Amino acid sequence: MSGSGLWRRSRHAPMARLVGLEGKVVGTDADDEVIALAREDARTAKLDNVEFRRADAAMCQATEEYDLVYARFLLSHLSEPERCLEAMVRACNVKGALVLEDVDFSGSFCYPTCVAYDRYIQLYEHIVNRGGGDPNIGRKLPGMLRKMGAENVLVNVVQPTHLEGEGKLMASITMQRIAGAVISERLATESEVQQIITELNDAAADSETVMSLPRVFQVWGRRA
Ligand SMILES: C[S@@+](CC[C@H](N)C(=O)[O-])C[C@H]1O[C@@H](n2cnc3c(N)ncnc32)[C@H](O)[C@@H]1O
Repeated sequence: MSGSGLWRRSRHAPMARLVGLEGKVVGTDADDEVIALAREDARTAKLDNVEFRRADAAMCQATEEYDLVYARFLLSHLSEPERCLEAMVRACNVKGALVLEDVDFSGSFCYPTCVAYDRYIQLYEHIVNRGGGDPNIGRKLPGMLRKMGAENVLVNVVQPTHLEGEGKLMASITMQRIAGAVISERLATESEVQQIITELNDAAADSETVMSLPRVFQVWGRRA
């Protein structure tokens, strides 16, 4: 079983528990820092059946090694997601499971309408597009997976939506993460970015405001 890409709250722990002591999970990410954090989390959780490797997911040469191959929030960042999918399918055993989760930012919403939220979505989409990625890749995944030779492909959509709590801060946190790129690409001035962050925090603090994360497409199938 392999998970391509992971972050602080990655899926390796639930997967490691699912496969039990007889199974093994391999988690990969291209970023050393992410791998170090995941190893630390696994140590803390006393998970002995999970291994982490720094790797470019599209370069994976594994052939029919895993019963399940999974990628979350990875393909939307890649300029050639098909290459990564191809590597995932190759790594999967025949009749093994291929599982993808990825975003569709175009379905994000805030109610009542918040100008700063709409601007944040626009800026995020722009930054991901400029990096060669696709912030709305989710809806394309069933077709892409079929094209790569998967059968019995199914799809589900979930959209975490918040009135309060940590999830409601994701827009502001993400805006802070892309602030440097937004300013250096002259998409907005430093003061406009600061204003957007302040207004996103204000909207998050208002318990009357309903704020969503992007829609998440969950797509799965079997290697033919
Ligand atoms: C939005 S994060 C998602 C992290 C994790 N997969 C999750 O679901 O929580 C995107 C991750 O993709 C990783 N990444 C980007 N390009 C990659 C590549 N070519 N191969 C492997 N990982 C990559 C980044 O380092 C980053 O950790």
